[in-house]
Amino acid sequence: MAINTAAWLTGKHVRPLSVASAPMPDLKPGSVIVVTRALAINPVDAAIQTAGIIATDYPIVMGLDGTGIVHAVSDDVANVKVGDRVLAFTAGGTAPGGQGGTFQQYFCVDSKYVAVLPDNVKFTEGVVVTSCLTVASISLFDEKCLAFSRPLAAGQVFPNGKIVLIWAGATVVGSCAIQMAKLAGYEVWTTSSEHNFDYCKDLGAAHVFNYKRPGIVDEIVQTIDATGKSLAGAFGAHLWTANDCAQVVRRLGDSVEHTRAVGTVIPEGYGFSVPEDWPEGVKFCWLFNKSDAAEWVWREWITKALADGRMKCKPDADVVGRGLEFVQEALDRWSQGVSASKIVVEL
Ligand SMILES: NC(=O)c1ccc[n+]([C@@H]2O[C@H](COP(=O)([O-])OP(=O)(O)OC[C@H]3O[C@@H](n4cnc5c(N)ncnc54)[C@H](OP(=O)(O)O)[C@@H]3O)[C@@H](O)[C@H]2O)c1
Repeated sequence: MAINTAAWLTGKHVRPLSVASAPMPDLKPGSVIVVTRALAINPVDAAIQTAGIIATDYPIVMGLDGTGIVHAVSDDVANVKVGDRVLAFTAGGTAPGGQGGTFQQYFCVDSKYVAVLPDNVKFTEGVVVTSCLTVASISLFDEKCLAFSRPLAAGQVFPNGKIVLIWAGATVVGSCAIQMAKLAGYEVWTTSSEHNFDYCKDLGAAHVFNYKRPGIVDEIVQTIDATGKSLAGAFGAHLWTANDCAQVVRRLGDSVEHTRAVGTVIPEGYGFSVPEDWPEGVKFCWLFNKSDAAEWVWREWITKALADGRMKCKPDADVVGRGLEFVQEALDRWSQGVSASKIVVEL
């Protein structure tokens, strides 16, 4: 009989997390139980602990990103089987009726957000991208968001000559978005600190701008204008950077494609509102919970793209240690500030 252990957040603002026994997750229809081999820190995990946001009932087990080995699958699951190496994106510890996230030895995940992790990718590498590729695929490819054409399941797409602006290319979300947009045929323009310019270019960005420079919106607008190319849309890959994108879209006016949309990392249904200074005529795209595009990426794309090396698990994992005891240190390291890095714990 398997025994579960978790790193528990026992109350609002409580630190450190407590490592203690946990109930074994229930195998519900459409779900998969995974033995965790690596987990990663997401900004929201740190914010739940330090800022006391989102969670209302405690104790909880946080964690969106996980990799590991399939322990059990419900009868209706066909995409993975017991013993498979997998990557997975869970709803985290605060989902109503949920069974906790990945900060535990065994976690349960909706089968739509689990896929085989090819042998060429380590558990500590695959765990870098799981939630962030989901966010990027919703914003870039969902019909309700930017609705870009998708990358091919296998092989390369010809460049389509259209620019996409991805603000915050050195975030994990931005790093996934740069690669996926480029693979879908777009010319990617992005922003980062100067020390990450080469990093963004290695991922496939054609132009990188320093977001810390005064007048950065003007600079981007003028540079895009001078190319005579159209902007297909823009995506703010860090909280509230969508405002900067919206200013670029507004200023470019008619040279932006008909959608005039800006993708965001702002989730629907958590009490956020569209910023008061959001420009008229620019569409604000929420990060929707349910997304055909994200499900497609998990079902049809990610395993193949990792296996043939088109998609890289970037930025590199910064592995803090091995064992649930290291999760608090990992949260603290994220809170000290990261730059093109994903904080990971191995189990
Ligand atoms: N809803 C979900 O399931 C979900 C899942 C994952 C992520 N997210 C959200 O997506 C966002 C990104 O998450 P992440 O994990 O990818 O972030 P991250 O990697 O932890 O973000 C750190 C990076 O942010 C960049 N940055 C900070 N402010 C910036 C600005 N004003 N302009 C451009 N770049 C900026 C820094 O770039 P430089 O080092 O170059 O300065 C740094 O490398 C977060 O808001 C997160 O909450 C949501």
